[in-house]
Amino acid sequence: MQIAVFVSGRGSNMQALLDAQAAGKLSARVVGVFSNRAEAPALEIARAHGIPVATLSARAYADREAYDRAVLDRVAEWQAEGAVLAGYMRIVTPAFLAGFPRGVINIHPSLLPAFPGAHGIRDACAWGVRVTGCTVHFVDERVDHGPIIAQRALALPPCADPEETAARLLPLEHETLLEATNLWAEGRLEVQGRRVDIRTS
Ligand code: GRF
Repeated sequence: MQIAVFVSGRGSNMQALLDAQAAGKLSARVVGVFSNRAEAPALEIARAHGIPVATLSARAYADREAYDRAVLDRVAEWQAEGAVLAGYMRIVTPAFLAGFPRGVINIHPSLLPAFPGAHGIRDACAWGVRVTGCTVHFVDERVDHGPIIAQRALALPPCADPEETAARLLPLEHETLLEATNLWAEGRLEVQGRRVDIRTS
């Protein structure tokens, strides 16, 4: 399965996929990396891996849908069947989702459905939960909402510090994203309403 990775910043989750690909451990093929921010450090990492990159600022577009259509045009030549949102800090529209026949997945830094939104780690720490984690899920029309593919849990101390928590969570994110991407690319996921079954072979 050909996949495009969508990023906005640092790109460590994207890098985990590219490193796995270089090591022959990724069941999908990353055909391109797109960023809505031209200055995203992720783009340098992608280039260093020899992966095609593309960027497009949202500024010139009247609404989310117009931007998403322009993004699809921009990446059309990659012929990606699926998209991975790896720190892509934009809400995608149904037009975006329709551009990927095998679907779109997202990595989120909390145990959904707890703490959706742009500040999952900060919100979990502020709430005082003693367990948080990360979630990889299929993307649907609602934010951080679609069927869950994989999760990892992380125990938190009392009054956990958000920055320290983010650093501890990151390796779990990388592991979870790789696992979910491989299951998806291998055609082993069967979505039944909200639930995702995993075929063993
Ligand atoms: C990660 O915490 C991811 O879960 C969230 O945004 C962050 C991106 O980090 N969606 P990176 O750019 O992959 O390093």
